[in-house]
Amino acid sequence: MWSLFGGGKNKIVGIDIGTSGIKAVELEHSPSSQEVSLKNYVLLGFSENLPQKERERRITKEEIVGLLKVALKQSKIKTRNASFSIPAFSSFVSFVTMPRVQEEDIRKAITIEAQKFIPVSLEEVVLGWEVIDEPEGKEIANIRDQNKMKVLLLAVPRDIVARYKEIASACGLNLKNLEVEAFPLLRSLTFNFQKTFVVADIGARVCNLLVVSNGSLRGARNIGLGGEDLTEVIARSVNIAYERAEELKKNEGLFNKQVAELLIPALGNIIDELKRVIAVYRSKNPNKEIDELVLSGGTAQLRGIVELFSDRLNIPTTIGDPWKKLTIDNKIKSAIESRGTSFSIAIGLALKNE
Ligand SMILES: Nc1ncnc2c1ncn2[C@@H]1O[C@H](COP(=O)(O)OP(=O)(O)OP(=O)(O)O)[C@@H](O)[C@H]1O
Ligand SMILES: [Mg+2]
Repeated sequence: MWSLFGGGKNKIVGIDIGTSGIKAVELEHSPSSQEVSLKNYVLLGFSENLPQKERERRITKEEIVGLLKVALKQSKIKTRNASFSIPAFSSFVSFVTMPRVQEEDIRKAITIEAQKFIPVSLEEVVLGWEVIDEPEGKEIANIRDQNKMKVLLLAVPRDIVARYKEIASACGLNLKNLEVEAFPLLRSLTFNFQKTFVVADIGARVCNLLVVSNGSLRGARNIGLGGEDLTEVIARSVNIAYERAEELKKNEGLFNKQVAELLIPALGNIIDELKRVIAVYRSKNPNKEIDELVLSGGTAQLRGIVELFSDRLNIPTTIGDPWKKLTIDNKIKSAIESRGTSFSIAIGLALKNE
């Protein structure tokens, strides 16, 4: 019915509230052609928009609401249908192998299973799950023979869910979906479902690592390390202001020998964590190769990072391009290239339209 008036098109905005700023992307889905086109987008950095922001302070809900309203207005995003991402560090993700049960018994069985894996009371969380129907490698025999199933278990604290509901409603938005970051990342950055990928989304404070194979999430981890830590290392070691260090990091990156010497040890921690994630996957899937490492998040724009990661891990490494799935008007194309990698989560959120 609505299509009579709306031309059969639906708009949705994906909103990623990261630790360094808000990213929002408005996409239009055309059901007839399956085309998804970019309507509007915005990146609003916290440090430029909050007076005297102390970096360590947690930004309040009221400040987020205020900035999100500004961001939506500035970018002329009109649709009220919005999906938000939940940061990886605010959720629990586990992969569980459990006895196979009928569809109608699944909630009960998963609740029992979840008690073993989730470190807080189940009353405090909202539970979600996905049955992974295609077990891989060594798991195949184990799962099929013993009539088990592999389940991806998710839990998000109720107060976090409430916080996003309040933010949406204060901004006059209809909350369509709340998704843990891993899923929108997977949606916007993986193209070939035959391949096995590792995705590293390196933001300002957090690095999100995923293993994706046959289009499903097979592993997830996050560490508290990101671009702010890199800037701080430079500021401290060279004894310059944070803002100057941020500039040096963005302009020179690893192509500057002195900057590289300072940053490579910190990036080494991310590389070591990636090695651990890959080793876990390989131990379960000895016959499978990791085909590609896909970098995302603002820190993926660090000059020289692709060369460093591919050299240290010996895996073909690329910078993910979440814009590739979208039809983009020529007028905004050139502006996008300079800020591309921060938007993977916001785009992935708005790619889901159900
Ligand atoms: N050209 C560049 N070179 C190096 N770092 C960059 C560049 N551009 C942006 N960054 C860094 O990217 C980071 C911001 O990335 P992003 O937008 O993905 O973070 P976020 O989502 O806000 O943070 P998080 O995911 O940790 O909550 C900042 O630390 C910024 O310094
Ligand atoms: Mg982020």
